[in-house]
Amino acid sequence: MMLEVNHLKTYFYSENGINKAVNDVSFSLKEGETLCIVGESGSGKSITSLSIMGLVDKPGVIEGGEIFLEGVNLLKMSEKELRGIRGSHVAMIFQEPMTSLNPTYTVGFQLDEVIKLHQPTLNKQERYSKVIEALELVGMPNAPEKYNEYPFKLSGGQRQRVMIAMAMACEPKLLIADEPTTALDVTIQAQVLELMNKLKREKGTSILFITHDLGVVAQMADHVVVMYKGVVVESASAKELFSDPRHPYTKALLGSIPTPGHAKRKSRLETVDESVNYLSFPKEIR
Ligand SMILES: Nc1ncnc2c1ncn2[C@@H]1O[C@H](COP(=O)(O)OP(=O)(O)OP(=O)(O)O)[C@@H](O)[C@H]1O
Ligand SMILES: [Mg+2]
Repeated sequence: MMLEVNHLKTYFYSENGINKAVNDVSFSLKEGETLCIVGESGSGKSITSLSIMGLVDKPGVIEGGEIFLEGVNLLKMSEKELRGIRGSHVAMIFQEPMTSLNPTYTVGFQLDEVIKLHQPTLNKQERYSKVIEALELVGMPNAPEKYNEYPFKLSGGQRQRVMIAMAMACEPKLLIADEPTTALDVTIQAQVLELMNKLKREKGTSILFITHDLGVVAQMADHVVVMYKGVVVESASAKELFSDPRHPYTKALLGSIPTPGHAKRKSRLETVDESVNYLSFPKEIR
């Protein structure tokens, strides 16, 4: 198993009490597969992925559980060991790209650093070609020009593409992508998704993919975990989930899937009836 999360609990403490953002979450991701986590805003998707990366900040606390990466419990690792893992085995594309690019270095410099680390035998010229290629693969216009730009000069979508290029250049065993394509236009989004699927096919990369978009789930997922208010309400293969959703919340989500012919494409799952307490139903974990 590439990744196994058992009974993960990540809570936020404040004067108003405890927010159980991730409340006893378990799932596993097989080698070479894509697991999608889907659920509405605030359901705990990002906090789950940040917990895996060891990047939960105060007032957030991991209160319990185990996170095994290829059999090794990440929650038992020191910060130094975790940093090593983040550099080599796991790469993450964050929901908010600006926070993870260094504003004081050019795009090209930052990509070059990543490639230097992962392909130390390449010379400067070869690395330059790799950087340009990586930028072109994610659909960056005028890649050689962008090489010398600082992150703040790029649009949000372009910054996100730099992040994606950087994560992929690491050739990680596990790629965690948190809403990686939300800020991108539809054509670029399709291109980036295809690129991730190619990485999976050709390098056997395992992917943990977080999204609101059920169309994206259908395109990417082998397995799907549905989160609601910090809890996994349903876990099933993508095929099962779409053909035979069991939990009322999943059914509600699928009810909000855009139908062909509908001009406006919905990417946010906003139509779920908020007056229903879906936690009162039994979980359907297959
Ligand atoms: N820094 C923080 N301090 C306090 N509470 C937080 C913090 N970050 C997240 N939370 C809370 O944790 C819960 C889960 O948030 P999370 O960001 O994981 O949701 P999400 O499913 O990723 O939502 P979205 O789809 O909007 O990205 C929410 O109730 C949120 O308010
Ligand atoms: Mg999020």
